[in-house]
Amino acid sequence: MNPILSVEGLEVTFPGRKRWFRSPAKGLRAVAGVNLTLAAGEILGVVGESGSGKTTLARAILGLQQESGGRIALNGKEVTGLPIQRARIDRQDVQYMHQDAGASLDPWWSIGGALHEALVVHGVRDRAQRDERIDAMLGAVGLDPSVKRRFPHELSGGQLKRVALARIVMLKPKVVVLDEPTAGLDMSVQSLVLSLLLELRTRFDLSYILITHDLSVVRRVCDRAAVMYLGKIVEVQPAAELFSEPRHPYTRLLLSSIPSLDGARSSSTPLVAITGAVGAGAGCAFRPRCELAHAECDRSEPVLRRVGEGTVACHAMKVGFHPVAEIAIHPNELVVNG
Ligand SMILES: Nc1ncnc2c1ncn2[C@@H]1O[C@H](COP(=O)(O)OP(=O)(O)OP(=O)(O)O)[C@@H](O)[C@H]1O
Ligand SMILES: [Mg+2]
Repeated sequence: MNPILSVEGLEVTFPGRKRWFRSPAKGLRAVAGVNLTLAAGEILGVVGESGSGKTTLARAILGLQQESGGRIALNGKEVTGLPIQRARIDRQDVQYMHQDAGASLDPWWSIGGALHEALVVHGVRDRAQRDERIDAMLGAVGLDPSVKRRFPHELSGGQLKRVALARIVMLKPKVVVLDEPTAGLDMSVQSLVLSLLLELRTRFDLSYILITHDLSVVRRVCDRAAVMYLGKIVEVQPAAELFSEPRHPYTRLLLSSIPSLDGARSSSTPLVAITGAVGAGAGCAFRPRCELAHAECDRSEPVLRRVGEGTVACHAMKVGFHPVAEIAIHPNELVVNG
């Protein structure tokens, strides 16, 4: 089946600051050759530490951030190549749920006003039609129509997420990029939001890219998960397999850093925020933190290879190198990592 969204060799480089007498200024490769596909109806989790490029990837997919290279196709039609001012035009089928649902709403506008405005911008001129669509959508996200008279500061975090979802789904997208949809919510509200996301997916034929720090969210709702490290995808697996058999040393580090119930980490390895991929050298970007690093990791960058149901970019995945990699890789199953 053709993917609803496909991303090939996507690059986003932020220009570096030029210093007097020093040249040239080095750019920051925030997204460094990402390949991804999203099937219709799929929920693809994107995980990785702070600064790994998740939001930049999302913004580039949405057409909010100019890509420096690569291509994005929606429903088989290429949408890349337009200047950033026009990039959103072909990408209305992709909508974005901001991490901070409250901040994405104007504090001076009532909820009803904000929902009407979104429909007006999308060409629904008839007021009665808008009212009908808004009421139906508020019902679909489990909110009473009276919420329209209220202002963002009068709503709880969970209610704000519901309003943000109503506003997005009302626009009839095919793909929704959810940036940290459960951040800042308590456990019971998180569960409600995740159930709602699953329900809306089925009811409105949606596919999601779900960006999160929270691996338990991936385990609960995602079909597949992509792990990002310094702008690159280092592993993609079906979500269940990512937890039962994590392959990349970085995925293992992420999983081992999930706090246990008593608050202690299950590993002594601290999980630290990473800095940008400025002028990453020839080798594997993860090698300074990798327990399995060896000479080849300094020499060349690993490419994504098919392993099990997914793909992994790690030299240690080569047959015979390390017990981690007791996995047969067929030489024809090499996938180039951008
Ligand atoms: N507009 C920008 N200009 C310059 N650098 C940027 C810009 N936006 C992001 N970056 C840099 O790009 C890198 C990736 O940032 P990004 O926000 O995509 O990470 P992230 O994975 O979403 O992190 P977090 O989990 O904290 O949200 C970071 O090093 C960041 O400092
Ligand atoms: Mg982010």
